[in-house]
Amino acid sequence: EPLPRQVTPLFARRRFAGRPRADPFCRARYAFCPTGSALPEMRETDVLDVYRLQAPVWEFRYGGLLGRLKIMHDAVGFRSSATGKNYTMEWYELFQLGNCTFPHLRPDTPAPFWCNQGAACFYEGIDDAHWKENGTLVQVATISGAIFNQMAKWVKYDNETGIYYETWAVKSSPEDHGRVWFEAYECSKFVLRTYQKLAELGAVFKRIQTNYTTITLFSGEPTCLGNETTLFGPVGNKSLALAIRNFYLPFKPYHSVKEFFLNLLKILEEVVLDHQFYLFYNLEYWFLPMKYPYVKIAYEEIPLPNSNATKLDM
Ligand SMILES: *[C@@H]1O[C@H](CO)[C@@H](O)[C@H](O)[C@H]1NC(C)=O
Ligand SMILES: *[C@@H]1O[C@H](CO)[C@@H](O)[C@H](O)[C@H]1NC(C)=O
Ligand SMILES: *[C@@H]1O[C@H](CO)[C@@H](O)[C@H](O)[C@H]1NC(C)=O
Ligand SMILES: *[C@@H]1O[C@H](CO)[C@@H](O)[C@H](O)[C@H]1NC(C)=O
Ligand SMILES: *[C@@H]1O[C@H](CO)[C@@H](O)[C@H](O)[C@H]1NC(C)=O
Ligand SMILES: *[C@@H]1O[C@H](CO)[C@@H](O)[C@H](O)[C@H]1NC(C)=O
Ligand SMILES: *[C@@H]1O[C@H](CO)[C@@H](O)[C@H](O)[C@H]1NC(C)=O
Ligand SMILES: *[C@@H]1O[C@H](CO)[C@@H](O)[C@H](O)[C@H]1NC(C)=O
Repeated sequence: EPLPRQVTPLFARRRFAGRPRADPFCRARYAFCPTGSALPEMRETDVLDVYRLQAPVWEFRYGGLLGRLKIMHDAVGFRSSATGKNYTMEWYELFQLGNCTFPHLRPDTPAPFWCNQGAACFYEGIDDAHWKENGTLVQVATISGAIFNQMAKWVKYDNETGIYYETWAVKSSPEDHGRVWFEAYECSKFVLRTYQKLAELGAVFKRIQTNYTTITLFSGEPTCLGNETTLFGPVGNKSLALAIRNFYLPFKPYHSVKEFFLNLLKILEEVVLDHQFYLFYNLEYWFLPMKYPYVKIAYEEIPLPNSNATKLDM
């Protein structure tokens, strides 16, 4: 059957030389990855099950409009046959979703201030009930300990170089052939990169349908406005700097996910009325000339990767 086209974004996520220590201004309300550890070394001859894990973002029990949106969080699970131990691996915000989507406007700092790092978290155990009840816990592949160990090296690299969370994807239109201007960089993208890496290492995936939540903005061709220094430094264009600050003014990085989505609706109202959005991406600000339908939250299929072996068959 035909599979959806994999589209390469025009402006891909940058890799950075290393992860800077988060600014002390950024204080996590809930500790990031409290029981996490580095990935353990598996016996090369071990056989591990790989699981797709997906569950709704818990705050959606508030019901109403928000409750009906399929906003899911994604993770990967592993189970070692040699030890019987199982593990969960996920990627998420150091300071929660609100802080990754909206900046702080500090009176003493001209530029909007972001607490937008995201990182991988690996810990022992899989909470079956949590994933199964309103989500998914399903085996997608079987790998050797040797493949797991190679994946572990890649996870370390990925975690040190892919460091900023990005809520939004930006496309030119909702059509399949629409141009992808920017890709999102959130939990599901980490899961997809992991599956891709495993396929490259030789894992063979089952043929099952796998859908993910995407939040997409629609705009004409983006314009790069500059970075923090060029925009908000001494030589920056003051009226442009003010316009960017004002754009973010109504949207504080609120604490609860419910407040987050109420503010999301507010930002969208502004976007629809003024047809503009200032996106912060790869540490630069971009102007998006927004267009209909402005934004879409979807739960769409992104297929599991073909293994190298399957490619040879075709
Ligand atoms: C967002 O960042 C602010 C500033 O550091 C912090 O006070 C707040 O606790 C963070 N929110 C969450 C939910 O962690
Ligand atoms: C990823 O990086 C974060 C931040 O440095 C760290 O807390 C976490 O343990 C790392 N994750 C893994 C799986 O190594
Ligand atoms: C993971 O391990 C726990 C504790 O042994 C067990 O209750 C659970 O069923 C296991 N889940 C999977 C998917 O292996
Ligand atoms: C699953 O959804 C039901 C109904 O919305 C809710 O009562 C329950 O707490 C949810 N379970 C989990 C584990 O989130
Ligand atoms: C699978 O294909 C990728 C890309 O073509 C390649 O880099 C990788 O070495 C291959 N892996 C195996 C196990 O053949
Ligand atoms: C901002 O952009 C200028 C001009 O392109 C560049 O010289 C400078 O290094 C950049 N600053 C940062 C912090 O990236
Ligand atoms: C400063 O930015 C505004 C848009 O906010 C633009 O209209 C104006 O031409 C810019 N001024 C200069 C000197 O580039
Ligand atoms: C999963 O995605 C496919 C294609 O994107 C779509 O047709 C299907 O309705 C989605 N499934 C659910 C449960 O939303």
